[in-house]
Amino acid sequence: MRVEPAAALVGHVVVPGDKSISHRAVLIGGLGEGETRVSGFGRSGDTQATIDAIRMLGVEVEDVAEDELVVRGVGMRGLRAGSVDCANAGTLMRLLTGVLAGQEGEFVLSGDESLTPRPMERVAVPLRQMGADVETTDGHAPLTVRGSDSLRGIEIEPEVASAQVKSAILLAGLNAEGPTTVVERIPTRDHTELMLEAAGARVRRSTTSVTVEPAGALRLGEVAVPGDFSSAAPLLVAAALVPGSDLTIHDLGVNPRRTGLLAVLERMGARVSVFERRREAGEPVASVQVQPGELVATEIGADEVPSVVDELPLVALLASHARGETRVSGARELRVKETDRIEAVTDGLRPLGARIHSRDDGWTVTGVPARLRGGRVDARGDHRIAMLGAVAGLASREGVAVEGADTAAISFPGFYELLESVTRR
Ligand code: S3P
Repeated sequence: MRVEPAAALVGHVVVPGDKSISHRAVLIGGLGEGETRVSGFGRSGDTQATIDAIRMLGVEVEDVAEDELVVRGVGMRGLRAGSVDCANAGTLMRLLTGVLAGQEGEFVLSGDESLTPRPMERVAVPLRQMGADVETTDGHAPLTVRGSDSLRGIEIEPEVASAQVKSAILLAGLNAEGPTTVVERIPTRDHTELMLEAAGARVRRSTTSVTVEPAGALRLGEVAVPGDFSSAAPLLVAAALVPGSDLTIHDLGVNPRRTGLLAVLERMGARVSVFERRREAGEPVASVQVQPGELVATEIGADEVPSVVDELPLVALLASHARGETRVSGARELRVKETDRIEAVTDGLRPLGARIHSRDDGWTVTGVPARLRGGRVDARGDHRIAMLGAVAGLASREGVAVEGADTAAISFPGFYELLESVTRR
């Protein structure tokens, strides 16, 4: 896919439903009583894997429309034993392991060649402490989960700041005896907590911890999924980079634990405005407008990383266009995403003309307020790197050929069409 330079990005658009919330609506809906009606569902490679998985486990999911589902829950311990292919979806594999810890029977979870090498002991260790039998293959998928009807609630501070790990523990806690508490010094996305509260679970929260009580029954009813901030991010960054742009994204999820990119954009000098703020099913939603500005370098450290984790490749691109030296640190987690994103970004942006160096836990980028030359970016099977390449192309002098561009459909089918619809040349 060749992406030619843009003269501006202009318009008002919406993006597909949030991937994190869509996964959770299907999984929690599957454990619920009666019907859960999901609107604004973000259908993508990853969320389709979650629908397929929950169907395998005996839950009926009716496709009402591309972005609308009805999930007929089987109750808190009603899933049927079997094997599940999690495809490329790390969120599915980790959250489902927590769900299955308290079910009856034996479950085998496998994934594709990108998911298989990713670390899974981070969920297996705390679940074992709760009394579950979770076997990994040398720390990785395939996983075997033998469910237990006598899980114990625990209090734990996971070693990595990860919403997936936190969610797996909380979901297991629903079927445990006594309360389950996850302590997190650096807050991660809280979609699981918000949805469990909406479904009637007893959830207590402090600034550094979340506790769930065992739940006899959950009832979600309706979930209206807001637009995915991480899918909006490539468009917002393109608008910040290309002079003359003025782009607004409506009905967008703006959960503060997800929108670190907005703070970064503002600090770097882009013009950002957030308006029409409201709440839907507990989640903050708004319209977000971005216009370019003269970009300057910034610093990002470990405390900010979870709120911008999936957008860090785009931050490296912004930094390449920002006067001064940007340092991103505390982001070692990027090495165990769909690919090693620290190396994929450096190897992707440097041949385009960026002055970027990998460090163990991030990058150092020396920016110049001018367009990059352009060239070729290999997505390496990673949707976020494919979208990074496309945005780099829009902001370049000569355009970018994205190799493996199709992988964007893992989170955002229709990405290139939407980008094209707001691009002026
Ligand atoms: C996600 C959590 C994050 C994020 C991923 C989705 C979630 O992963 O990178 O894309 O839905 O909980 P970690 O929990 O591994 O940080």
